[in-house]
Amino acid sequence: YNSLSSKTSELIMKQVRANPQLLICTATGGTPSGAYQELSQHSTELFSEARFIKLDEWGGIPMDDPGSCELYLQDKLIKPLAIDKERYYSLNSQTDDAESECRRIQSFLDKNGPIALCILGLGLNGHLGFNEPADELRPFCHVAQLTQTSLSHPMIVNHEIDIRYGLSLGMANILTSQHIFLLVNGEHKIDIFNTLLSQSITTQCPASFLWTHPNVTCILDESVAPATWPDGLEIDYA
Ligand code: F6R
Repeated sequence: YNSLSSKTSELIMKQVRANPQLLICTATGGTPSGAYQELSQHSTELFSEARFIKLDEWGGIPMDDPGSCELYLQDKLIKPLAIDKERYYSLNSQTDDAESECRRIQSFLDKNGPIALCILGLGLNGHLGFNEPADELRPFCHVAQLTQTSLSHPMIVNHEIDIRYGLSLGMANILTSQHIFLLVNGEHKIDIFNTLLSQSITTQCPASFLWTHPNVTCILDESVAPATWPDGLEIDYA
């Protein structure tokens, strides 16, 4: 996990050096926290022009709740990297009108997108953000119906607030990113990672749509690496 985190933070910094004003989309959760922790120890100078957008949020949770994606990002990235308000775009979880909040963020992306670097974790059920396995997926920022898997996510599992929905960037927002990093860590992700490696593209595993993207870097720890890889992938044992 430590090398996954160091490698990820190195690769993020490389992207920022190449394009200082880039728009970075950030997932939360257990997987990227080590990488964010490493980044937060670097000079804020490198990130003085970078812009960040939050990938998703739990609907109805207070923005300063310890389980919120907001507090997670504020604590791990936004404050340590001194990202000012004008460079951080964030779905508000505490709105009376979640649909209109999603339209607000979508309209921001329409004007300021596409995302240059999208940092994703892999859901245990194959979700990306809150694009959950379903018969149909949504392209743009939307109010998402959460699956039981998401409602059991460690960030909110014992939460007192009854979370009924999520707010999430959509599949097109993710797939039009110029570069995507998918981080996968831990033995509990082996099954879903193998499903992903089967290269069957299905709405029942939203992450499988990453196979349609020309520029995905998947960074994983040793425990997830399979014995054999599908053909055509560039593998780097860092
Ligand atoms: C969180 C998010 C989720 C997580 C996924 C994996 O912002 O978008 O899709 O990336 O559930 O979570 P962890 O990393 O905790 O296993």
